[in-house]
Amino acid sequence: DGARILIKGGTVVNAHRAEEADVYIEDGVVVAVRPNIPVGDDNVRVIDATGKYVMPGGIDPHTHLAMEFMGTVTIDDFFSGHAAALAGGTTMHIDFVIPVNGNLTAGLESYKQKAANAAMDYGFHMAITKWNDEVAREMEVMVKEHGINSFKFFMAYKGSLMVTDDLLLQGLQKCKSLGALAMVHAENGDAVAEGQQRMIDLGITGPEGHALSRPPILEGEATARAIRLAKFINTPLYVVHVMSIDAMEEIAKAKREGQRVIGEPVVSGLVLDDSWLLDPDFTIASKYVMSPPIREVGHGKALQAALSSGILQLVGTDHCTFNSTQKVFGSDDFRKIPNGVNGLEERMHIIWDSMVESGKISITDYVRVTSTECAKIFNIYPRKGAILEGSDADIIILNPERSFVMGAHAHHSRSNTNVYEGRKGKGMVEVTISRGRVVWEDGILNIAPGSGRYVRMQPFGYVFDGIEKSDAAYRASLRAPVQRGKAVA
Ligand code: URP
Ligand code: ZN
Ligand code: ZN
Ligand code: ZN
Repeated sequence: DGARILIKGGTVVNAHRAEEADVYIEDGVVVAVRPNIPVGDDNVRVIDATGKYVMPGGIDPHTHLAMEFMGTVTIDDFFSGHAAALAGGTTMHIDFVIPVNGNLTAGLESYKQKAANAAMDYGFHMAITKWNDEVAREMEVMVKEHGINSFKFFMAYKGSLMVTDDLLLQGLQKCKSLGALAMVHAENGDAVAEGQQRMIDLGITGPEGHALSRPPILEGEATARAIRLAKFINTPLYVVHVMSIDAMEEIAKAKREGQRVIGEPVVSGLVLDDSWLLDPDFTIASKYVMSPPIREVGHGKALQAALSSGILQLVGTDHCTFNSTQKVFGSDDFRKIPNGVNGLEERMHIIWDSMVESGKISITDYVRVTSTECAKIFNIYPRKGAILEGSDADIIILNPERSFVMGAHAHHSRSNTNVYEGRKGKGMVEVTISRGRVVWEDGILNIAPGSGRYVRMQPFGYVFDGIEKSDAAYRASLRAPVQRGKAVA
């Protein structure tokens, strides 16, 4: 719409700089960012941001809205999920399209329908769960026609989503040739199945059995394997939901050696620990069941340190919500508890409170890890992830002095539970602007189903350049000994 908004007197924070400036918005786009922009006329809505931070809206790289999973469907769809996101200062997310019987086109069609009531902008990753010539062909169509530039491979969930190493290799190769980014859920699914049987044999059927059956070494193993296969194919790799020191250290090692590996911690892994799984109340313990599991005390702190030092790069949520009646499916067997936790509404507040307030990251780093880095990785920067002239007006105003209390009583998710129940902290998103419309203000949401747009993501030019250069270097290295041999002869 044609709304004109002037945000005055705040500190505008981009990943590259924080400055005192006003922001002028017209028709959903940022038109000017500079100090002392005059109020043009009466039709300009002026928002006073004195003492507050004006930042790009959050971009969540990892969500599962309206996903059919483990015999049920996640309870937040593209409308309730977007309500939660916008109330929490997130203005875009990238969801995972799950193919229908391995068919990508059918999967995309179904997700387009799910997203018909979207209230904010969104993009798609595509999961690859089967392999054949048709899938390879469809991947190309997804990249060239449908604006998808990332594909996810589940190394866990044996019997449903899990891929073999053979499929992963084919997929990595195809991603490389398309200039698309390969993503992995890194856990050894065969070993997890073995670990689960071990727990059942020991009579451990409660939520704690979930964590015990899939320890950090299985995440470390799969992370290392995926990293090495990506190196063998010579293509970048994105590791989703890094939950353990074991996985993080494999990423650190690969980065030290110059490999392009991106690590994504999620909010639950950064701030929660596995003691929740021991709660004698099943409705409480089962809330915390997700994969890879929330780990012992110590992993979260190490992941936070890795985020502040750049080993890990951007924060997701893996928002995958169920209510307590869905979680109860697994009350006699942890293997039946639908896996997933909330976070889409809480991410921006928890990262601010636990990392900026404590000085672990700067305000510019905050913008980088919650928004800009995601936009850059998925090739939508600076349209998203920045407050620059020409950027989409996806903007939040955060008041560092206001405190919050989280929980199901106040959240906008459809779930009746929240893993951050009772969590208190400082820093409140008071205003959310989605493509130039004020959608969250004074604790009130004003959102319109169907107003969210699909954001197309282009493949990666630099990957093509990298392939050409490195393949040429490889061929040259093969020729070299032959030439030496000739010279000797
Ligand atoms: O437990 C989780 N993480 N549920 C969502 C699916 C996935 O593995 O990302
Ligand atoms: Zn098509
Ligand atoms: Zn996963
Ligand atoms: Zn996920």
